Amino acid sequence: MSARKKRLKSYDRTLLANQPVSEHQRSDYPTGWYFARFGEDLKPGKAIPVEFMSRQFALFRTASGKVGMVDSQCCHMGADLGRCGTVAGERLVCGFHAWEFETDGRCAVAPRVPTASISKRARQFSVPVIERAGNIYFWYGPGPAGEFVDLSYFDSDRYLSIKGQVYIGRGDLLPISEHIVDSYHFPYSHKIMTAVEYDVLTNEGRRFEFRLRPREGTEGGQLQRLFNPHAFGEMAAPCVGVYRTQKNATIDRLTPPLTVLTGGTPIREGLFIFTWRIGVRKIGPDRFFGPLNRALGRLMWFIIRWNYYSDMEVLRWMRMPDKPLSVKPDGAAIREYRSFYRRNIVPGWRFGDPAPVPAPAGPGPGAGSGRPVQSAVSPNGAASRSTT
Ligand code: FES
Ligand SMILES: [Fe+2]
Repeated sequence: MSARKKRLKSYDRTLLANQPVSEHQRSDYPTGWYFARFGEDLKPGKAIPVEFMSRQFALFRTASGKVGMVDSQCCHMGADLGRCGTVAGERLVCGFHAWEFETDGRCAVAPRVPTASISKRARQFSVPVIERAGNIYFWYGPGPAGEFVDLSYFDSDRYLSIKGQVYIGRGDLLPISEHIVDSYHFPYSHKIMTAVEYDVLTNEGRRFEFRLRPREGTEGGQLQRLFNPHAFGEMAAPCVGVYRTQKNATIDRLTPPLTVLTGGTPIREGLFIFTWRIGVRKIGPDRFFGPLNRALGRLMWFIIRWNYYSDMEVLRWMRMPDKPLSVKPDGAAIREYRSFYRRNIVPGWRFGDPAPVPAPAGPGPGAGSGRPVQSAVSPNGAASRSTT
């Protein structure tokens, strides 16, 4: 059932809004791409603050449209580039002494300092950033950034790419992320009385693919007969999901009727954002079907918003119990998703740390000892295992 939204008192809202800018980050999160902002919300020439795992960054878009994300603390005297920085041409300019930084973090200009004398240390730590399907994502993890799911069809004339919403959550990211493969909550949280199940198709390294299908042996309710409950899901990263509705059990990756992009990003301990965007296949060319295409896009937006609203008031407060209880209707997909999420965590790794050295192959010191084994991901994306 949906939780009723409670209106907070003004002092509670102020308390929640006034958090310190940095806290010790206790939790580890998986390697992968994370949602930063909707592309539409970062116009050329703008710089905004972005926080990730208690660390402050400046996200900016240059005049030509290129996006950069650098450590927000200016290497000169520590001004916050996300809050006082401006963009001039292709560079981010500090608001205090006007040092100019490239998208890769290098300081190219420092007023009244000859270019040749600019220190090599005059550089901001920078993070790989990409823009896909209208969303800006950044990479978190040791080694080179991984591949992203092919979403090029979002940019074609056949699709409408529509920005969704950003929710703020106060719990953990894992319960909200794994809910992408939770069919058990459909009838109670979403009131969708369709008998469906998830099958995991791939779960290895950085890849996790699954499909939604009608549960075997069920006739299905009214809704099930009306809508086709087939979908193909793929994780572009443990916290970025791509969910594509399908005509039938045959998987179509590049011309799905509806795509929902979801993403969760940890901001600081106990605070995260969760977001969605949709890609809607048009009925026909805009020249003939313009109003109909737009009406379809609006209808899909409202349907997806309704679905999110119906369980976000639960999900945004969820915290994983130390020993969650498992029952059969949870389905195996949830357990598989948890293994995928945890496998991609590099324990203790933080931005700027060197890549961990993979454990040597063969029996290690913990082999056969019965001690727990934790998985980590090597820079090339293959899962490696190390003992704890
Ligand atoms: S503090 Fe940024 S240029 Fe001086
Ligand atoms: Fe849900």
